[in-house]
Amino acid sequence: MFELRKLSADDGIDIYEMLQRIPGEENGLMNKANGLTYDEYKKWLTAKQKASEQQGIVDGWKVPSTTFWLYSDGVPVGFGSIRHFLTEALRKAGGHIGYGIAPGFRNKGYGKELLRLLLHEAKKIGIEKALVTVHSDNPASQAVAMANGGVITERTDDRVFIWIDTEKSVGIQE
Ligand SMILES: CC(C)(COP(=O)(O)OP(=O)(O)OC[C@H]1O[C@@H](n2cnc3c(N)ncnc32)[C@H](O)[C@@H]1OP(=O)(O)O)[C@@H](O)C(=O)NCCC(=O)NCCS
Repeated sequence: MFELRKLSADDGIDIYEMLQRIPGEENGLMNKANGLTYDEYKKWLTAKQKASEQQGIVDGWKVPSTTFWLYSDGVPVGFGSIRHFLTEALRKAGGHIGYGIAPGFRNKGYGKELLRLLLHEAKKIGIEKALVTVHSDNPASQAVAMANGGVITERTDDRVFIWIDTEKSVGIQE
């Protein structure tokens, strides 16, 4: 059984250990908790929780962003973040939603399920069309986005731009 849980400052060792298994950067997906001590991780959680609650842009570029953990049968297996709105820079790289599954759990359908659940959350935040920007050499992520109703609107040398109607995505794979 899959469940999405919103990041909380009270998150504990299970999430910490999962984040140590996911690289600090992979295909543009950032995991800044990788390599932190447990105390540093707890402070990072607090900052991430604040980033979810912030109003408007902070420091000239940081938009509000909410992180969720994917649990499979009570075990954390991945994470995703939703940016509440886009800046011009995020339209070119970054998009609304980023997601990652811990190595060892990949290619079992978890990525597709994670994005499906994230799209539900994006809809609740008020995002009607969600942008996912995927590196051209990341076929697994492209497959995940397309399986969730994605439409490719642009390809550049290094990225594929995929938009997903959050209304239409509801119900896919259910
Ligand atoms: C992208 C990622 C989230 C996918 O997670 P996952 O759990 O493996 O995804 P799923 O099992 O649900 O689906 C993977 C799909 O990619 C396909 N795939 C995997 N590797 C592939 C490859 N090298 N070439 C073509 N297709 C590939 C699988 O066949 C599957 O599609 P199918 O079910 O239609 O056959 C995971 O690989 C990951 O965390 N990568 C690192 C971070 C990242 O790239 N995030 C995305 C940033 S935009």
